[in-house]
Amino acid sequence: MSKSAVTTEVAKRRTFAIISHPDAGKTTITEKVLLFGNALQKAGTVKGKKSGQHAKSDWMEMEKERGISVTTSVMQFPYAGSLVNLLDTPGHEDFSEDTYRTLTAVDSCLMVIDAAKGVEDRTRKLMEVTRLRDTPIITFMNKLDRDIRDPMELLDEVETELDILCAPITWPIGCGKEFKGVYHIHRDETILYQTGQGHTIQELRVIKGLDNPELDEKVGSDLAAQLRDELELVLGASNEFDHEAFIDGSLTPVFFGTALGNFGVDHMLDGLVSWAPAPQGRETSERKVEASEEKFSGFVFKIQANMDPKHRDRIAFCRIVSGKYEKGMKLHQPRIGKDVRISDALTFLAGDREVLDTAYAGDIIGLHNHGSIQIGDTFTEGEKFRFSGIPNFAPELFKRIRLKDPLKQKQLQKGLIQLSEEGAVQVFRPLINNDLIVGAVGVLQFDVVVARLKAEYNVDALYEHVNVATARWVDCDNERKLDEFRRKADQNLALDGGDNLTYIAPTMVNLSLAQERYPDIVFRTTREH
Ligand code: G4P
Repeated sequence: MSKSAVTTEVAKRRTFAIISHPDAGKTTITEKVLLFGNALQKAGTVKGKKSGQHAKSDWMEMEKERGISVTTSVMQFPYAGSLVNLLDTPGHEDFSEDTYRTLTAVDSCLMVIDAAKGVEDRTRKLMEVTRLRDTPIITFMNKLDRDIRDPMELLDEVETELDILCAPITWPIGCGKEFKGVYHIHRDETILYQTGQGHTIQELRVIKGLDNPELDEKVGSDLAAQLRDELELVLGASNEFDHEAFIDGSLTPVFFGTALGNFGVDHMLDGLVSWAPAPQGRETSERKVEASEEKFSGFVFKIQANMDPKHRDRIAFCRIVSGKYEKGMKLHQPRIGKDVRISDALTFLAGDREVLDTAYAGDIIGLHNHGSIQIGDTFTEGEKFRFSGIPNFAPELFKRIRLKDPLKQKQLQKGLIQLSEEGAVQVFRPLINNDLIVGAVGVLQFDVVVARLKAEYNVDALYEHVNVATARWVDCDNERKLDEFRRKADQNLALDGGDNLTYIAPTMVNLSLAQERYPDIVFRTTREH
Protein backbone atom coordinates (compact mmCIF):
# COMPACT_ATOMS: atom_id res chain seq x y z
CA MET A 1 0.00 0.00 0.00
CA SER A 2 1.36 3.36 -0.94
CA LYS A 3 1.80 6.05 1.60
CA SER A 4 -0.76 8.28 -0.03
CA ALA A 5 -3.48 5.64 0.30
CA VAL A 6 -2.96 5.63 4.07
CA THR A 7 -3.10 9.42 4.01
CA THR A 8 -6.37 9.39 2.06
CA GLU A 9 -8.00 6.90 4.42
CA VAL A 10 -6.80 8.76 7.50
CA ALA A 11 -8.08 12.09 6.18
CA LYS A 12 -11.60 10.64 5.95
CA ARG A 13 -11.76 9.68 9.59
CA ARG A 14 -13.16 11.53 12.59
CA THR A 15 -12.82 9.91 16.00
CA PHE A 16 -14.79 11.51 18.81
CA ALA A 17 -16.52 10.93 22.14
CA ILE A 18 -19.53 12.52 23.79
CA ILE A 19 -19.09 14.28 27.11
CA SER A 20 -22.14 15.25 29.12
CA HIS A 21 -23.84 15.15 32.47
CA PRO A 22 -26.06 12.06 33.01
CA ASP A 23 -29.51 12.56 31.44
CA ALA A 24 -28.43 15.36 29.13
CA GLY A 25 -29.13 13.06 26.17
CA LYS A 26 -25.91 11.27 25.29
CA THR A 27 -27.59 7.95 24.58
CA THR A 28 -30.34 9.56 22.55
CA ILE A 29 -27.86 11.51 20.45
CA THR A 30 -25.84 8.35 19.89
CA GLU A 31 -28.97 6.67 18.53
CA LYS A 32 -29.69 9.53 16.15
CA VAL A 33 -26.11 9.80 15.03
CA LEU A 34 -26.18 6.12 14.14
CA LEU A 35 -29.46 6.61 12.34
CA PHE A 36 -27.80 9.21 10.15
CA GLY A 37 -24.92 6.87 9.62
CA ASN A 38 -27.48 4.32 8.36
CA ALA A 39 -26.09 2.00 10.94
CA LEU A 40 -29.53 1.52 12.36
CA GLN A 41 -32.65 1.38 10.25
CA LYS A 42 -34.71 2.83 13.02
CA ALA A 43 -33.13 4.53 16.00
CA GLY A 44 -33.92 3.16 19.40
CA THR A 45 -31.79 0.14 20.08
CA VAL A 46 -28.55 1.49 21.50
CA LYS A 47 -29.37 0.71 25.10
CA GLY A 48 -30.60 -2.69 23.95
CA LYS A 49 -33.83 -2.12 25.85
CA LYS A 50 -36.02 -3.80 23.34
CA SER A 51 -33.57 -5.88 21.43
CA GLY A 52 -32.76 -8.63 23.88
CA GLN A 53 -30.55 -10.53 21.41
CA HIS A 54 -27.71 -10.67 23.87
CA ALA A 55 -27.97 -12.15 27.31
CA LYS A 56 -26.62 -9.55 29.68
CA SER A 57 -24.46 -10.40 32.65
CA ASP A 58 -25.45 -9.35 36.14
CA TRP A 59 -23.35 -6.27 36.26
CA MET A 60 -25.04 -5.08 33.15
CA GLU A 61 -28.33 -5.64 34.95
CA MET A 62 -26.96 -3.50 37.72
CA GLU A 63 -25.97 -0.89 35.22
CA LYS A 64 -29.52 -0.86 33.91
CA GLU A 65 -31.06 -0.68 37.38
CA ARG A 66 -28.97 2.24 38.36
CA GLY A 67 -29.38 3.85 35.02
CA ILE A 68 -25.70 4.26 34.47
CA SER A 69 -23.50 3.14 31.69
CA VAL A 70 -20.41 1.27 32.80
CA THR A 71 -19.27 0.05 29.45
CA THR A 72 -17.33 1.77 26.76
CA SER A 73 -18.37 0.77 23.34
CA VAL A 74 -17.15 1.84 20.00
CA MET A 75 -19.27 2.57 16.97
CA GLN A 76 -18.20 3.25 13.42
CA PHE A 77 -20.42 4.70 10.72
CA PRO A 78 -20.11 6.56 7.43
CA TYR A 79 -21.35 10.13 7.18
CA ALA A 80 -21.12 12.56 4.25
CA GLY A 81 -18.03 10.97 2.75
CA SER A 82 -16.32 10.61 6.11
CA LEU A 83 -15.95 7.63 8.37
CA VAL A 84 -16.89 8.50 11.93
CA ASN A 85 -15.76 6.62 15.02
CA LEU A 86 -17.80 7.34 18.13
CA LEU A 87 -16.40 6.13 21.43
CA ASP A 88 -18.94 5.86 24.20
CA THR A 89 -17.73 7.05 27.58
CA PRO A 90 -19.01 5.66 30.85
CA GLY A 91 -21.49 8.08 32.33
CA HIS A 92 -20.95 7.68 36.03
CA GLU A 93 -18.38 9.68 37.88
CA ASP A 94 -17.07 6.61 39.65
CA PHE A 95 -15.59 5.58 36.36
CA SER A 96 -13.69 8.72 35.66
CA GLU A 97 -10.46 6.78 35.18
CA ASP A 98 -11.95 4.81 32.36
CA THR A 99 -13.40 7.92 30.88
CA TYR A 100 -10.08 9.69 31.14
CA ARG A 101 -8.36 6.96 29.19
CA THR A 102 -11.10 6.86 26.58
CA LEU A 103 -10.62 10.59 26.04
CA THR A 104 -6.95 9.96 25.24
CA ALA A 105 -8.14 7.86 22.29
CA VAL A 106 -10.24 10.53 20.53
CA ASP A 107 -9.36 13.62 18.51
CA SER A 108 -12.42 15.70 19.34
CA CYS A 109 -15.42 15.72 21.67
CA LEU A 110 -19.08 16.54 21.43
CA MET A 111 -20.32 18.30 24.56
CA VAL A 112 -24.04 17.78 25.07
CA ILE A 113 -25.83 20.21 27.36
CA ASP A 114 -29.40 20.00 28.58
CA ALA A 115 -30.53 23.47 27.55
CA ALA A 116 -33.10 23.58 30.35
CA LYS A 117 -30.34 23.10 32.89
CA GLY A 118 -27.16 24.56 31.48
CA VAL A 119 -23.65 23.57 32.52
CA GLU A 120 -23.70 20.73 35.07
CA ASP A 121 -21.14 19.12 37.33
CA ARG A 122 -20.01 16.17 35.32
CA THR A 123 -19.60 18.26 32.20
CA ARG A 124 -17.37 20.61 34.13
CA LYS A 125 -15.12 17.72 35.22
CA LEU A 126 -14.96 16.15 31.79
CA MET A 127 -14.07 19.47 30.24
CA GLU A 128 -11.13 19.68 32.63
CA VAL A 129 -9.97 16.34 31.30
CA THR A 130 -10.25 17.41 27.66
CA ARG A 131 -8.21 20.50 28.53
CA LEU A 132 -5.21 18.34 29.33
CA ARG A 133 -4.87 17.61 25.63
CA ASP A 134 -6.60 20.74 24.26
CA THR A 135 -9.14 18.53 22.53
CA PRO A 136 -11.43 20.44 20.13
CA ILE A 137 -15.01 20.63 21.43
CA ILE A 138 -18.30 20.85 19.53
CA THR A 139 -21.35 21.83 21.59
CA PHE A 140 -24.93 20.63 21.21
CA MET A 141 -27.63 22.37 23.23
CA ASN A 142 -30.25 19.67 23.61
CA LYS A 143 -33.94 19.39 24.49
CA LEU A 144 -35.17 22.45 22.61
CA ASP A 145 -38.57 20.77 22.50
CA ARG A 146 -38.80 21.69 26.17
CA ASP A 147 -38.83 25.08 27.80
CA ILE A 148 -35.17 25.98 27.92
CA ARG A 149 -33.17 28.78 29.42
CA ASP A 150 -32.39 31.92 27.45
CA PRO A 151 -29.93 30.82 24.71
CA MET A 152 -27.75 33.91 25.17
CA GLU A 153 -27.49 33.14 28.86
CA LEU A 154 -26.54 29.53 28.07
CA LEU A 155 -23.67 30.64 25.86
CA ASP A 156 -22.56 33.02 28.55
CA GLU A 157 -22.56 30.28 31.12
CA VAL A 158 -20.49 27.98 28.92
CA GLU A 159 -17.99 30.78 28.31
CA THR A 160 -17.54 31.76 31.93
CA GLU A 161 -17.86 28.39 33.62
CA LEU A 162 -15.95 26.30 31.12
CA ASP A 163 -13.59 28.97 29.94
CA ILE A 164 -14.16 28.37 26.26
CA LEU A 165 -15.48 30.86 23.69
CA CYS A 166 -18.79 30.05 22.00
CA ALA A 167 -19.50 30.55 18.33
CA PRO A 168 -23.18 29.81 17.58
CA ILE A 169 -23.59 28.08 14.22
CA THR A 170 -27.34 27.68 14.48
CA TRP A 171 -29.82 29.77 16.46
CA PRO A 172 -33.13 28.45 17.84
CA ILE A 173 -36.53 29.79 16.92
CA GLY A 174 -38.71 29.40 20.01
CA CYS A 175 -38.60 26.41 22.32
CA GLY A 176 -40.91 23.89 23.98
CA LYS A 177 -44.28 23.70 22.26
CA GLU A 178 -43.29 26.76 20.26
CA PHE A 179 -40.06 25.29 18.92
CA LYS A 180 -40.06 25.99 15.20
CA GLY A 181 -36.56 25.14 14.10
CA VAL A 182 -33.18 26.81 13.79
CA TYR A 183 -31.60 29.45 11.62
CA HIS A 184 -28.25 28.25 10.27
CA ILE A 185 -25.96 31.27 10.46
CA HIS A 186 -23.36 29.94 8.01
CA ARG A 187 -25.86 28.75 5.43
CA ASP A 188 -28.20 31.70 5.83
CA GLU A 189 -31.22 29.44 5.94
CA THR A 190 -33.93 28.42 8.34
CA ILE A 191 -34.52 24.72 8.86
CA LEU A 192 -38.00 23.99 10.13
CA TYR A 193 -38.71 21.49 12.86
CA GLN A 194 -41.42 18.88 12.60
CA THR A 195 -42.66 17.00 15.61
CA GLY A 196 -43.21 13.26 15.70
CA GLN A 197 -40.30 12.38 13.45
CA GLY A 198 -37.78 11.35 16.06
CA HIS A 199 -37.19 7.95 14.53
CA THR A 200 -36.68 8.84 10.92
CA ILE A 201 -34.45 11.10 8.93
CA GLN A 202 -36.67 14.12 8.42
CA GLU A 203 -37.56 15.57 5.11
CA LEU A 204 -35.80 18.92 5.06
CA ARG A 205 -37.94 22.02 5.00
CA VAL A 206 -35.70 24.96 4.37
CA ILE A 207 -36.32 28.68 3.96
CA LYS A 208 -33.51 30.60 2.33
CA GLY A 209 -32.51 33.98 3.71
CA LEU A 210 -33.49 35.80 6.88
CA ASP A 211 -35.71 38.40 5.21
CA ASN A 212 -37.72 35.87 3.26
CA PRO A 213 -41.46 36.53 3.97
CA GLU A 214 -41.96 32.77 3.94
CA LEU A 215 -40.21 32.74 7.29
CA ASP A 216 -42.93 34.93 8.83
CA GLU A 217 -45.53 32.75 7.27
CA LYS A 218 -44.08 29.48 8.56
CA VAL A 219 -42.95 30.38 12.08
CA GLY A 220 -45.32 33.29 12.75
CA SER A 221 -44.43 36.95 12.51
CA ASP A 222 -43.72 37.31 16.25
CA LEU A 223 -41.14 34.56 16.34
CA ALA A 224 -39.66 35.70 13.04
CA ALA A 225 -39.25 39.22 14.39
CA GLN A 226 -37.77 37.88 17.60
CA LEU A 227 -35.31 35.77 15.61
CA ARG A 228 -34.16 38.78 13.58
CA ASP A 229 -33.72 40.86 16.74
CA GLU A 230 -31.86 38.15 18.58
CA LEU A 231 -29.60 37.47 15.64
CA GLU A 232 -28.61 41.08 15.38
CA LEU A 233 -27.63 40.96 19.00
CA VAL A 234 -25.96 37.56 18.79
CA LEU A 235 -23.94 38.33 15.70
CA GLY A 236 -22.76 41.53 17.30
CA ALA A 237 -21.96 40.11 20.71
CA SER A 238 -20.74 36.58 20.16
CA ASN A 239 -17.68 35.15 18.49
CA GLU A 240 -17.43 34.15 14.89
CA PHE A 241 -16.35 30.62 14.22
CA ASP A 242 -12.57 30.45 13.95
CA HIS A 243 -11.15 27.13 12.86
CA GLU A 244 -7.76 27.61 14.44
CA ALA A 245 -9.28 28.53 17.80
CA PHE A 246 -11.54 25.48 17.54
CA ILE A 247 -8.59 23.19 16.84
CA ASP A 248 -6.59 24.52 19.79
CA GLY A 249 -9.58 24.01 22.09
CA SER A 250 -10.27 27.64 22.91
CA LEU A 251 -13.51 28.07 20.93
CA THR A 252 -16.50 25.78 20.46
CA PRO A 253 -19.09 25.88 17.67
CA VAL A 254 -22.59 25.65 19.18
CA PHE A 255 -25.63 23.89 17.69
CA PHE A 256 -29.19 23.83 19.00
CA GLY A 257 -31.70 21.03 18.62
CA THR A 258 -33.53 18.11 20.14
CA ALA A 259 -32.02 14.68 20.10
CA LEU A 260 -35.35 13.11 20.95
CA GLY A 261 -36.99 14.88 18.03
CA ASN A 262 -33.96 14.05 15.87
CA PHE A 263 -33.54 17.68 14.94
CA GLY A 264 -30.24 19.50 14.67
CA VAL A 265 -28.11 16.40 15.10
CA ASP A 266 -27.29 16.44 11.39
CA HIS A 267 -26.13 20.07 11.57
CA MET A 268 -23.77 19.07 14.33
CA LEU A 269 -22.53 16.08 12.30
CA ASP A 270 -21.95 18.33 9.28
CA GLY A 271 -19.82 20.55 11.53
CA LEU A 272 -17.97 17.56 12.90
CA VAL A 273 -16.96 16.14 9.55
CA SER A 274 -15.97 19.49 8.08
CA TRP A 275 -14.10 20.96 11.05
CA ALA A 276 -13.02 18.30 13.53
CA PRO A 277 -9.47 17.13 13.05
CA ALA A 278 -8.65 13.94 11.22
CA PRO A 279 -6.77 11.41 13.36
CA GLN A 280 -3.84 13.04 15.11
CA GLY A 281 -0.43 11.60 15.92
CA ARG A 282 0.65 10.81 19.45
CA GLU A 283 3.82 11.19 21.53
CA THR A 284 5.83 8.10 22.40
CA SER A 285 8.85 7.34 24.54
CA GLU A 286 11.06 7.89 21.47
CA ARG A 287 9.42 10.33 19.08
CA LYS A 288 6.12 11.67 17.88
CA VAL A 289 4.30 9.24 15.63
CA GLU A 290 2.21 10.78 12.83
CA ALA A 291 -1.10 9.26 11.73
CA SER A 292 -0.05 9.17 8.07
CA GLU A 293 3.02 7.02 8.70
CA GLU A 294 2.81 3.85 6.71
CA LYS A 295 3.64 1.47 9.53
CA PHE A 296 1.00 0.39 11.97
CA SER A 297 1.10 1.54 15.58
CA GLY A 298 -1.54 1.80 18.28
CA PHE A 299 -2.21 1.73 22.00
CA VAL A 300 -4.67 -0.04 24.25
CA PHE A 301 -6.87 2.34 26.24
CA LYS A 302 -9.41 -0.08 27.59
CA ILE A 303 -9.84 -3.75 28.33
CA GLN A 304 -13.23 -5.19 28.86
CA ALA A 305 -13.92 -8.69 30.05
CA ASN A 306 -16.87 -10.84 29.19
CA MET A 307 -18.58 -8.42 26.85
CA ASP A 308 -20.49 -11.32 25.57
CA PRO A 309 -21.05 -13.87 28.35
CA LYS A 310 -21.41 -16.61 25.77
CA HIS A 311 -17.85 -16.05 24.62
CA ARG A 312 -16.19 -15.43 27.99
CA ASP A 313 -13.66 -13.27 26.29
CA ARG A 314 -11.63 -10.23 27.07
CA ILE A 315 -11.34 -7.54 24.48
CA ALA A 316 -8.54 -4.98 24.40
CA PHE A 317 -9.59 -1.77 22.64
CA CYS A 318 -6.71 -0.47 20.58
CA ARG A 319 -6.67 3.00 19.03
CA ILE A 320 -4.71 2.84 15.80
CA VAL A 321 -2.36 5.82 15.82
CA SER A 322 -0.62 5.32 12.49
CA GLY A 323 -0.76 3.21 9.36
CA LYS A 324 -3.01 0.34 8.51
CA TYR A 325 -4.15 -2.85 10.20
CA GLU A 326 -4.49 -5.85 7.95
CA LYS A 327 -5.96 -9.14 8.94
CA GLY A 328 -3.23 -11.66 9.72
CA MET A 329 -0.50 -9.10 10.23
CA LYS A 330 2.23 -9.58 12.80
CA LEU A 331 2.35 -7.00 15.55
CA HIS A 332 5.09 -6.31 18.03
CA GLN A 333 4.29 -5.67 21.68
CA PRO A 334 7.28 -3.71 23.06
CA ARG A 335 6.38 -4.13 26.77
CA ILE A 336 6.93 -7.87 26.63
CA GLY A 337 9.15 -7.86 23.55
CA LYS A 338 6.97 -10.34 21.71
CA ASP A 339 5.37 -10.62 18.29
CA VAL A 340 1.82 -11.78 17.84
CA ARG A 341 -0.10 -12.57 14.69
CA ILE A 342 -3.52 -10.93 14.71
CA SER A 343 -6.13 -12.56 12.54
CA ASP A 344 -9.32 -11.83 14.37
CA ALA A 345 -9.43 -8.16 15.36
CA LEU A 346 -12.96 -6.85 15.78
CA THR A 347 -14.77 -3.74 14.77
CA PHE A 348 -17.89 -2.51 16.51
CA LEU A 349 -20.59 -1.41 14.16
CA ALA A 350 -23.53 -0.17 16.27
CA GLY A 351 -22.75 -2.64 19.01
CA ASP A 352 -22.43 -5.66 16.75
CA ARG A 353 -19.02 -7.13 16.34
CA GLU A 354 -17.52 -8.50 13.23
CA VAL A 355 -14.09 -9.62 12.18
CA LEU A 356 -12.59 -7.04 9.90
CA ASP A 357 -9.91 -7.14 7.25
CA THR A 358 -8.50 -3.64 7.35
CA ALA A 359 -8.54 -0.58 9.59
CA TYR A 360 -6.63 2.70 9.56
CA ALA A 361 -5.27 5.29 11.93
CA GLY A 362 -8.12 6.79 13.94
CA ASP A 363 -10.05 3.50 14.03
CA ILE A 364 -10.47 1.36 17.11
CA ILE A 365 -9.92 -2.36 16.81
CA GLY A 366 -10.79 -4.96 19.41
CA LEU A 367 -8.05 -7.50 20.10
CA HIS A 368 -8.75 -10.77 21.84
CA ASN A 369 -6.80 -10.74 25.03
CA HIS A 370 -5.65 -13.98 26.56
CA GLY A 371 -3.91 -12.28 29.43
CA SER A 372 -0.89 -10.79 27.71
CA ILE A 373 -2.34 -7.36 26.97
CA GLN A 374 -2.54 -4.57 29.55
CA ILE A 375 -4.05 -1.12 29.43
CA GLY A 376 -1.52 1.27 27.95
CA ASP A 377 0.22 -1.39 25.85
CA THR A 378 1.67 -0.27 22.56
CA PHE A 379 1.56 -2.33 19.37
CA THR A 380 3.92 -1.62 16.47
CA GLU A 381 5.32 -3.33 13.39
CA GLY A 382 8.63 -3.84 15.18
CA GLU A 383 9.68 -0.48 16.57
CA LYS A 384 10.36 -0.38 20.29
CA PHE A 385 8.67 2.88 21.27
CA ARG A 386 5.78 3.07 23.71
CA PHE A 387 2.93 5.59 23.68
CA SER A 388 2.86 7.89 26.66
CA GLY A 389 0.08 9.60 28.55
CA ILE A 390 -2.25 6.76 29.49
CA PRO A 391 -2.23 6.82 33.27
CA ASN A 392 -3.54 4.83 36.19
CA PHE A 393 -4.60 6.96 39.12
CA ALA A 394 -3.69 6.10 42.70
CA PRO A 395 -6.88 4.82 44.34
CA GLU A 396 -8.28 6.63 47.34
CA LEU A 397 -10.52 3.93 48.78
CA PHE A 398 -9.36 0.52 49.97
CA LYS A 399 -10.97 -2.66 51.21
CA ARG A 400 -9.70 -6.13 51.93
CA ILE A 401 -11.59 -8.67 49.89
CA ARG A 402 -12.32 -12.08 51.35
CA LEU A 403 -13.97 -15.24 50.07
CA LYS A 404 -17.05 -16.85 51.52
CA ASP A 405 -15.65 -20.17 50.30
CA PRO A 406 -11.90 -20.25 50.97
CA LEU A 407 -11.31 -22.94 48.36
CA LYS A 408 -11.83 -20.48 45.56
CA GLN A 409 -8.74 -18.38 46.24
CA LYS A 410 -7.34 -19.07 42.78
CA GLN A 411 -10.47 -17.93 40.97
CA LEU A 412 -10.64 -14.85 43.17
CA GLN A 413 -7.09 -13.90 42.37
CA LYS A 414 -7.58 -14.55 38.67
CA GLY A 415 -10.80 -12.54 38.59
CA LEU A 416 -9.26 -9.61 40.42
CA ILE A 417 -6.20 -9.51 38.23
CA GLN A 418 -8.33 -9.60 35.10
CA LEU A 419 -10.59 -6.86 36.43
CA SER A 420 -7.56 -4.78 37.28
CA GLU A 421 -6.09 -5.27 33.79
CA GLU A 422 -9.35 -3.92 32.54
CA GLY A 423 -9.01 -0.89 34.79
CA ALA A 424 -12.30 -1.71 36.57
CA VAL A 425 -10.49 -1.73 39.90
CA GLN A 426 -6.97 -1.98 41.25
CA VAL A 427 -5.68 -4.86 43.28
CA PHE A 428 -2.76 -4.91 45.69
CA ARG A 429 -1.03 -7.94 47.14
CA PRO A 430 1.09 -7.08 50.19
CA LEU A 431 4.61 -8.57 50.17
CA ILE A 432 4.30 -9.88 53.71
CA ASN A 433 0.93 -11.66 53.72
CA ASN A 434 -1.69 -13.21 51.44
CA ASP A 435 -4.25 -10.44 51.67
CA LEU A 436 -5.93 -9.13 48.57
CA ILE A 437 -6.63 -5.43 48.84
CA VAL A 438 -8.95 -3.76 46.39
CA GLY A 439 -8.35 -0.11 45.63
CA ALA A 440 -10.85 2.14 43.89
CA VAL A 441 -11.24 5.73 42.89
CA GLY A 442 -15.03 5.71 43.45
CA VAL A 443 -17.25 3.73 45.85
CA LEU A 444 -19.44 2.16 43.20
CA GLN A 445 -16.47 0.24 41.83
CA PHE A 446 -16.53 -2.00 44.91
CA ASP A 447 -20.10 -3.14 44.19
CA VAL A 448 -19.34 -3.68 40.53
CA VAL A 449 -16.36 -5.89 41.40
CA VAL A 450 -18.32 -8.16 43.75
CA ALA A 451 -21.18 -8.43 41.26
CA ARG A 452 -18.84 -9.28 38.43
CA LEU A 453 -16.80 -11.75 40.46
CA LYS A 454 -20.02 -13.60 41.14
CA ALA A 455 -21.41 -13.41 37.62
CA GLU A 456 -18.25 -14.04 35.66
CA TYR A 457 -15.98 -16.05 37.95
CA ASN A 458 -18.56 -17.74 40.17
CA VAL A 459 -16.87 -16.41 43.29
CA ASP A 460 -18.71 -15.12 46.38
CA ALA A 461 -16.63 -12.41 47.96
CA LEU A 462 -17.13 -9.82 50.65
CA TYR A 463 -15.23 -6.81 51.93
CA GLU A 464 -13.57 -6.05 55.24
CA HIS A 465 -12.05 -2.90 56.55
CA VAL A 466 -8.34 -2.54 55.88
CA ASN A 467 -6.01 -0.01 57.35
CA VAL A 468 -4.82 1.63 54.15
CA ALA A 469 -5.34 5.33 53.48
CA THR A 470 -3.43 5.84 50.28
CA ALA A 471 -1.13 4.17 47.77
CA ARG A 472 1.82 5.33 45.70
CA TRP A 473 3.69 3.60 42.94
CA VAL A 474 7.35 3.58 43.84
CA ASP A 475 10.43 3.61 41.72
CA CYS A 476 14.13 4.41 41.96
CA ASP A 477 16.93 4.72 39.42
CA ASN A 478 19.35 3.17 41.85
CA GLU A 479 18.82 -0.60 42.07
CA ARG A 480 20.71 -0.90 45.36
CA LYS A 481 18.65 1.78 47.05
CA LEU A 482 15.45 0.23 45.76
CA ASP A 483 16.47 -3.15 47.19
CA GLU A 484 17.23 -1.60 50.52
CA PHE A 485 13.84 0.16 50.51
CA ARG A 486 12.16 -3.10 49.60
CA ARG A 487 13.71 -4.78 52.64
CA LYS A 488 13.21 -2.01 55.16
CA ALA A 489 9.72 -0.94 54.19
CA ASP A 490 8.34 -4.38 53.33
CA GLN A 491 5.55 -3.99 55.90
CA ASN A 492 4.05 -1.33 53.63
CA LEU A 493 4.85 -2.69 50.22
CA ALA A 494 2.59 -4.52 47.81
CA LEU A 495 2.43 -5.53 44.16
CA ASP A 496 -0.40 -4.24 42.01
CA GLY A 497 -2.23 -6.23 39.32
CA GLY A 498 0.62 -5.68 36.88
CA ASP A 499 3.30 -6.61 39.49
CA ASN A 500 4.40 -3.01 40.01
CA LEU A 501 5.80 -2.15 43.40
CA THR A 502 3.44 0.00 45.46
CA TYR A 503 3.71 1.67 48.84
CA ILE A 504 0.46 1.30 50.78
CA ALA A 505 0.29 3.76 53.66
CA PRO A 506 -2.00 3.43 56.70
CA THR A 507 -2.10 7.22 57.08
CA MET A 508 -1.04 10.27 55.12
CA VAL A 509 1.43 11.05 57.89
CA ASN A 510 3.02 7.67 57.44
CA LEU A 511 3.41 8.42 53.75
CA SER A 512 5.09 11.77 54.42
CA LEU A 513 7.48 10.15 56.87
CA ALA A 514 8.39 7.48 54.35
CA GLN A 515 9.00 10.12 51.68
CA GLU A 516 11.30 12.00 54.05
CA ARG A 517 13.11 8.90 55.11
CA TYR A 518 13.72 7.61 51.58
CA PRO A 519 14.48 10.71 49.51
CA ASP A 520 15.84 8.67 46.58
CA ILE A 521 12.61 6.82 46.10
CA VAL A 522 10.01 8.37 43.78
CA PHE A 523 6.42 8.06 45.05
CA ARG A 524 3.94 8.50 42.21
CA THR A 525 0.20 9.26 42.30
CA THR A 526 -0.22 8.15 38.71
CA ARG A 527 1.43 5.35 36.89
CA GLU A 528 1.90 5.48 33.16
CA HIS A 529 1.25 2.20 31.58
P1 G4P B 1 -27.83 10.16 28.91
O1 G4P B 1 -27.42 9.04 28.02
O2 G4P B 1 -27.05 11.42 28.70
O3 G4P B 1 -27.94 9.80 30.34
O4 G4P B 1 -29.30 10.61 28.49
P2 G4P B 1 -30.40 9.87 27.65
O5 G4P B 1 -30.12 9.96 26.20
O6 G4P B 1 -30.68 8.51 28.23
O7 G4P B 1 -31.61 10.86 27.91
C1 G4P B 1 -32.09 11.11 29.22
C2 G4P B 1 -33.57 11.41 29.14
O8 G4P B 1 -33.75 12.62 28.40
C3 G4P B 1 -34.37 10.34 28.44
O9 G4P B 1 -35.67 10.33 28.99
C4 G4P B 1 -34.46 10.88 27.04
O10 G4P B 1 -35.59 10.39 26.35
C5 G4P B 1 -34.60 12.36 27.32
N1 G4P B 1 -34.16 13.18 26.18
C6 G4P B 1 -33.03 13.10 25.44
N2 G4P B 1 -33.01 14.04 24.49
C7 G4P B 1 -34.15 14.74 24.63
C8 G4P B 1 -34.73 15.85 23.91
O11 G4P B 1 -34.17 16.38 22.96
N3 G4P B 1 -35.92 16.29 24.37
C9 G4P B 1 -36.58 15.72 25.42
N4 G4P B 1 -37.76 16.23 25.78
N5 G4P B 1 -36.08 14.69 26.09
C10 G4P B 1 -34.89 14.20 25.70
P3 G4P B 1 -36.12 9.28 30.08
O12 G4P B 1 -37.57 9.47 30.28
O13 G4P B 1 -35.23 9.36 31.26
O14 G4P B 1 -35.78 7.92 29.44
P4 G4P B 1 -36.50 7.12 28.29
O15 G4P B 1 -37.42 6.22 28.98
O16 G4P B 1 -37.17 8.12 27.40
O17 G4P B 1 -35.37 6.43 27.62
